[in-house]
Amino acid sequence: MALAEVVYSKEQIAARIDELAAELRADLAGERPLLVSVLKGSVIFLSDLVRALGIDVDVDFMSISSYSGGPGPSGVVRIVKDLEDPLVDRHAVIVEDIVDTGFSLSYLLRTLETRSPRSLKVCALIDKKVSRIADLEVDFAGFTSDKFLIGYGLDFQGRYRNLPYLAAVTDIAALASNPDALVHIFQEPLGRADS
Ligand code: IMP
Ligand code: MG
Repeated sequence: MALAEVVYSKEQIAARIDELAAELRADLAGERPLLVSVLKGSVIFLSDLVRALGIDVDVDFMSISSYSGGPGPSGVVRIVKDLEDPLVDRHAVIVEDIVDTGFSLSYLLRTLETRSPRSLKVCALIDKKVSRIADLEVDFAGFTSDKFLIGYGLDFQGRYRNLPYLAAVTDIAALASNPDALVHIFQEPLGRADS
């Protein structure tokens, strides 16, 4: 079995982002939103989303980090880089790559709510509903998945973000023991999960 397989192609992602952009535009009803991109994973999604939106927007960036003393997430999160713009009275949309346990997003929502935005919604490329621990909903989700994904912004140990498609890693332990095991996919076409 291949170590990774494509789950969503470049074309499927582009088509879904057009649909998401239409949903967001309808929801925003002529308002100029402030898109809050969560570094680093969401930047590729953000860059396609803002162009698909085709409306007047502001963009700002935030970086957070999660602490974990042992295996698995701890739910302890801190701000590494904060927003530059105030949120007061803005229609804010958090743009995330993937919502997994939901700990990061729940921290972000709690923190940003205290800054009195007029509205605060979440747009995530991937909603990993099965892993959710925090009690929250993603308002706009591109795809759902229960797999570990790389590409289109999503990384494994900081790598593979620049793959133009989303691929599922079939054996995380094998990749962890040899993080170079997938470099060949920059040169060779990768098989599909459903083929
Ligand atoms: P959460 O706090 O558990 O929801 O974690 C969300 C963060 O974990 C994401 O923003 C990603 O940085 C990372 N993450 C979760 N699942 C994946 C995955 O399948 N691939 C790559 N990164 C992931
Ligand atoms: Mg992230």
